[in-house]
Amino acid sequence: MGPPARERMSGMQESVRLKSFELVARDIAGVDVHLLHALTLSVGWPHRTKDWQFLIRAGQGIAAVDGIGRVFGTAMWFPHGDDFATVGLVITSPRNQAQGGGRWLMDRVFEQCGGRDLALNATRAAHGLYLSLGFVDEASVHMHQGKLARDIPALPPVNGELSTPGADEFAEILPIDSQAFGRSRERLLTLLSENASICVLRRGGKVVGYSMRRDFGRGHVIGPVAAVNAEDALHLTAVHMKALRGRFVRVDTREADGPYATFLEQCGLSIAEVVTTMSKGRRFLNRQADQPWFYGLAGHALS
Ligand SMILES: CC(C)(COP(=O)(O)OP(=O)(O)OC[C@H]1O[C@@H](n2cnc3c(N)ncnc32)[C@H](O)[C@@H]1OP(=O)(O)O)[C@@H](O)C(=O)NCCC(=O)NCCS
Repeated sequence: MGPPARERMSGMQESVRLKSFELVARDIAGVDVHLLHALTLSVGWPHRTKDWQFLIRAGQGIAAVDGIGRVFGTAMWFPHGDDFATVGLVITSPRNQAQGGGRWLMDRVFEQCGGRDLALNATRAAHGLYLSLGFVDEASVHMHQGKLARDIPALPPVNGELSTPGADEFAEILPIDSQAFGRSRERLLTLLSENASICVLRRGGKVVGYSMRRDFGRGHVIGPVAAVNAEDALHLTAVHMKALRGRFVRVDTREADGPYATFLEQCGLSIAEVVTTMSKGRRFLNRQADQPWFYGLAGHALS
């Protein structure tokens, strides 16, 4: 059987091999956020243009673009001082995956990060790539999300006082955050706080935990949630949940089980994905009994 009659007549072939094209690394800050939004949509990620705008203010990075400015990949990093950064938004467009683009983007990130220790949360798709680049596994992150239940389970009385900090009290959350994060990230927290609702927990007048909620993707993220124990974390999370009943909410947590994970499930937030916290260089996580710890993360890319 030969080619169909129409093709026979026109001499057309059924397929064509296009010339491969070259991608160049461009500063992500100069790229149209709508093109970045299209990239995240193409891999099923929830980021909207406003989320990209925030990330570009918070960090640095590159976009892989072709000769007419179309975006085929991204990689970002978020410096915290001169010796540490988190990495995120490492994406290549599905049509161009498994052709070396991801590795090339990460090599550019290494160049830009200049020997900093690094941490990131790896999806299953990227885990092998990061292992081969010298990252090691530290923990699992459970991405809980869903439409929040109308009935938030009752909690035992809070040990301390919950309140919304005034502008002059914002600085009081910084020591707790630095202890939980292992280094200062004041700039990022200041940016996050611009569009976040914040809650602090005080005991004896001293701030012992805090939490934030902000718009993100399809709905809202509750995080960071920093606390010295699960009971405090539950209250610092429930405060935001009460304001978001029936809405789409996401909480990324390293609590695989126990009261915090159970509470999220009871509130209707089930596990959508499990990713792996990895580091290169100095170990990133350092959980210590009765010391501040993140029960909810600031976000996938922000660790
Ligand atoms: C993860 C991702 C960025 C990798 O990008 P990529 O362009 O495919 O990466 P590369 O082509 O450089 O491949 C990197 C390594 O992964 C391997 N790899 C890539 N795709 C693979 C696949 N589907 N199955 C098995 N291995 C695969 C490659 O063989 C390569 O290893 P090698 O260099 O030893 O041969 C890309 O798959 C992606 O954007 N996924 C969706 C978003 C995401 O999960 N991002 C990661 C955020 S942490």
